[in-house]
Amino acid sequence: MDFTERTEPFALFNEWLSEAEASEPNDPNAVALASVDPSGMPNVRMVLLKGHDERGFVFYTNFESTKGHELLASMKAAMGFHWKSLRRQIRIRGPLERVSDEEADAYYNSRHPQSRLGAWASDQSRPLTSRQELVDKLRAAEEKYGNENIPRPPHWSGLRIIPETIEFWKDGEFRLHDRIVFSRDSSSETGWSTQRLNP
Ligand SMILES: Cc1cc2nc3c(=O)[nH]c(=O)nc-3n(C[C@H](O)[C@H](O)[C@H](O)COP(=O)(O)O)c2cc1C
Repeated sequence: MDFTERTEPFALFNEWLSEAEASEPNDPNAVALASVDPSGMPNVRMVLLKGHDERGFVFYTNFESTKGHELLASMKAAMGFHWKSLRRQIRIRGPLERVSDEEADAYYNSRHPQSRLGAWASDQSRPLTSRQELVDKLRAAEEKYGNENIPRPPHWSGLRIIPETIEFWKDGEFRLHDRIVFSRDSSSETGWSTQRLNP
């Protein structure tokens, strides 16, 4: 079945991400994440998708970073995947929720000890005088916490985009691309309505 005939987005997302995992040179889960600042000025940066299921799409970050402040103020976000190897794009928009402490702990504890210490060492997005300052802060965190049982910083956690729309785009010849957008629709059997869009 052609993807534009699908009636439910999550299985299709899983299939496209699996194909990207097989074909991308690195980081198939890298995704552009958009926020807005309080003046309405957009902002965007890459993050790694670290969880996805029918509840939504999860990434982790420092809640005191620029993105942390912007996202927690609006509790809304958009994300865009682009897989060059597949010539495909997926766009997701919706409100945010914080992941539970248990979920954040489970992911944090799965990370390499140096990455866990890095979450303590980096005041993400704030000015840094020198690389050495960061190295010194990493050493200080290592002395304080050792290399095991490093607690998750209270300002480091995950956010989940609860999708209201998910759009799938596939490159077509002569720019005649295929696009299909899924929108939440409680009156539909699948919970989603679909609409094909002009490329
Ligand atoms: C491929 C890639 C993946 C990244 N993944 C993350 C991530 O999962 N979480 C994160 O906080 N920053 C990640 N970063 C760094 C962000 O792009 C960004 O530089 C940083 O989070 C600060 O953004 P901010 O100042 O808007 O808060 C990643 C960068 C790249 C290029």
